[in-house]
Amino acid sequence: MHFLLFESAQAASQKAYELIQEAKFQGAQTFGLATGGTPEQLYAILRSSDIDFSDSYAINLDEYIGLDPTHPQSYAQYMQKNLFSTKPFKATYIPNGSNPDVAAETAAYEKIIEDHPIDLQILGIGTNGHIGFNEPGTPFDSKTSLVDLTASTIQANKRYFESEEEVPTQAYSMGIGTILKAKKIILLAFGSSKAQTIADLFSGNITIDNPASALHHHHDVSILLDPEAALYIKDKLKN
Ligand code: GLP
Repeated sequence: MHFLLFESAQAASQKAYELIQEAKFQGAQTFGLATGGTPEQLYAILRSSDIDFSDSYAINLDEYIGLDPTHPQSYAQYMQKNLFSTKPFKATYIPNGSNPDVAAETAAYEKIIEDHPIDLQILGIGTNGHIGFNEPGTPFDSKTSLVDLTASTIQANKRYFESEEEVPTQAYSMGIGTILKAKKIILLAFGSSKAQTIADLFSGNITIDNPASALHHHHDVSILLDPEAALYIKDKLKN
């Protein structure tokens, strides 16, 4: 696992963009994509670039349960707005949060990923170490499933909704085991709210209480940080 410190979130996002370009140049076809505030600058860079995804597949990590793909706070809408409407892909996949048939939805999503193995996975991280929506306690071999969101995640994500009551309490999320199958993983973490979870990750302590620590089991992970997220580990980084 490589921890890379940048002078700003913008500089780290630029690096993520360059890694995507490099992967594409080397033949990557399928990109695992994340939502949240963290990748917004990366998506802005992609939108204004000349990168062409028309032969690529996009597979998103997660979606809120109960939100129709047309709901403004759905991750489906987030992806349309931030990337897909400007940069069309050959096909894009996001779990359907309005499908009540959990077994069918999760099995279908695993099949999509099996058919299109992810070459490069972009990740953010929750303040409690979640990746996708895999909350603390999730087994590291988990597959795509229906997950209950923790109170801290609901708190953290309420800023995107009019009120806390509107934040869904469940989501469909790619599993940790599914994420670990990606060939290459880039995790972005920005801002002081991520400093403690990044310090925990850096410590090398592998525990299901910190879902991101599963990434220590993967051979090709880059963690791109801004100075605030790197607050507690800055002195220990060489770059
Ligand atoms: C959300 C998403 C994650 C994201 C994380 C951080 O709940 N499910 O994929 O990485 O929480 O969000 P943000 O980037 O807004 O801090």
